[in-house]
Amino acid sequence: MRQTLSSFSFPLFLFLLISTWTFHGIAAIDLIRQTCKKCAQRDPNLGYNFCVTSLQAAPKSQCADDLHELGMISIKLLRRNLTNSRSFIKELLKNKKLDPFVRSCLHDCFDLYSDAIPTTKQAIDDYKSKHYDDANIDVSSVMDASTTCEDGFNEKEGAVSPLTKRNNDTFQLSAISLSIMNMLRLN
Ligand SMILES: *[C@@H]1O[C@H](CO)[C@@H](O)[C@H](O)[C@H]1NC(C)=O
Ligand SMILES: *[C@@H]1O[C@H](CO)[C@@H](O)[C@H](O)[C@H]1NC(C)=O
Repeated sequence: MRQTLSSFSFPLFLFLLISTWTFHGIAAIDLIRQTCKKCAQRDPNLGYNFCVTSLQAAPKSQCADDLHELGMISIKLLRRNLTNSRSFIKELLKNKKLDPFVRSCLHDCFDLYSDAIPTTKQAIDDYKSKHYDDANIDVSSVMDASTTCEDGFNEKEGAVSPLTKRNNDTFQLSAISLSIMNMLRLN
């Protein structure tokens, strides 16, 4: 009797424990998928897979239980990305053998990214106080910084941007934040 009870109840106990743990996670993943589906429909420049992968990998995203929290996570991801890319540009600029044209573009990008970091801080403050119009302007200007940076390299034939992927990531993360803010504004 005792043996049947324990062999029955231990798996049951484990099952209950694990379901409680995973329930929140499953709900969060569902929220991420639904949100990304809407974002990708609204913005053709935004990839659904990029959106899901980025948000799922973000710290705390497994605990996000509403759209507002998810939006905050996306702006924080954007800020972290900008900070990393700014350091990356700084490293690239240490190379003495850089082509002068590429160097001048990298300098412009460094300035653009340096300005964009405090702008995301402002976006976070505006977003927290639900001033979505202001937060929208902030994030839009960060998005513009990524395209301005990338366009600089295209001005000279044959020049190759070492920042294409990073600019693209910045662009797409901005697009996620903007989409989420639009959804919140309409709610
Ligand atoms: C920027 O964010 C994207 C998506 O979350 C990630 O894949 C990439 O590694 C990040 N890049 C940097 C430099 O932090
Ligand atoms: C960013 O990269 C993705 C995948 O490589 C591509 O589909 C998309 O058009 C790019 N977006 C921009 C703004 O360059």
